[in-house]
Amino acid sequence: TTVEWEAASYDMGGHDTYMHKEIFEQADAVDRVLRGRIDDRFSTVHLGGLNLDAREARSVRRVKILGCGTSYHAGLIGAQMIEELARIPADAEPASEFRYRNAVVDPDTLYIAVSQSGETYDVLAAVQELKRKGARVFGVVNVVGSAIARESDAGVYVHAGPEVCVVSTKCFTNTTVAFALLALHLGRIRDLSVADGKRIIEGLRKLPAQITAILEQEAEIEEIAKEYADARSMMFIGRVRGYPVAREASLKLKEVSYIHAEAYPASELKHGPLALIEPALPTVAIVPDDDLLEKNRAALEEIKARSGRILAVAHQEQEKADRTIIVPKNEDELDPILMGIPLQLLAYHTALALGRDIDKPRNLAKSVTVE
Ligand code: AGP
Repeated sequence: TTVEWEAASYDMGGHDTYMHKEIFEQADAVDRVLRGRIDDRFSTVHLGGLNLDAREARSVRRVKILGCGTSYHAGLIGAQMIEELARIPADAEPASEFRYRNAVVDPDTLYIAVSQSGETYDVLAAVQELKRKGARVFGVVNVVGSAIARESDAGVYVHAGPEVCVVSTKCFTNTTVAFALLALHLGRIRDLSVADGKRIIEGLRKLPAQITAILEQEAEIEEIAKEYADARSMMFIGRVRGYPVAREASLKLKEVSYIHAEAYPASELKHGPLALIEPALPTVAIVPDDDLLEKNRAALEEIKARSGRILAVAHQEQEKADRTIIVPKNEDELDPILMGIPLQLLAYHTALALGRDIDKPRNLAKSVTVE
């Protein structure tokens, strides 16, 4: 499947920046990545470009996802989804590291290269090295016909549409949805039940309306951004499904606002970073309503006990937080797709309050096509 990108999609459409426009395109973009792919009869999805028959799909023993920056973070979420839904061991690694470490290339591993532009040199070099060693490489790519799409054996287009802002937003979201589709597909060929397949499909269908509901909170998020814009540094925490969300949110903030930010698993706080907590270092906590809710609440208490300011992104009001942004609940496995979206707006409004060059942050390029 290919999608024509018309000149009209580059129009600012009344937005002041591409970043703002692209954040607000996410409900439509997610609708596009889902379109024509859901198979209700078998509670699964069809991924035309995958080129993997059922027997081959069952023979995959591991999944290794490679990407850089935001695409790597989407890969971290994807790896968790594949493990959860398909029960295939999966992990993600920066392609920029993988290509330099003489990694063991295993014939039963499915390698997945993730890239918005499809031109990132580190990812392309990793793909070429893998192919040279006989590995099978799939692409999860946005730009149709790009170098990585062409070099991959097969793949899934994420259909986010053109992303102009250097800071990736809508492509991140669509890539996580594409991974959910892949995880569901692999899961239903293996041991994921019809009922679970149906549950995930229902969750996927809810996403566009839930994204719209999140974006309707922009005024409140803008107010919060102004409160936090004077911070010199911020801490982002999450646990398991929430941790890659925290990493991506921290990258978003530093790229566009130039505020230093760190992301930590909430479980690691007590192993060191708790020493940093004081009123001048606000924490943004990802607190989904899942089986780890109580654990996450305990982390908030630890921070509060040290007079730290807390902004929670959660499914319900968090008593220990100074502020909570409420996100609609989806299926546990799909929650990470939504929980970072308000933090894209937080990064955007923080950068705006600080007068930053939002679409072209200093020192960065949209696609890094050099070593
Ligand atoms: C995203 O906000 C960044 N600008 C950057 O990390 C980017 O995701 C990375 O360079 C990878 O780009 P790609 O997805 O086009 O390969």
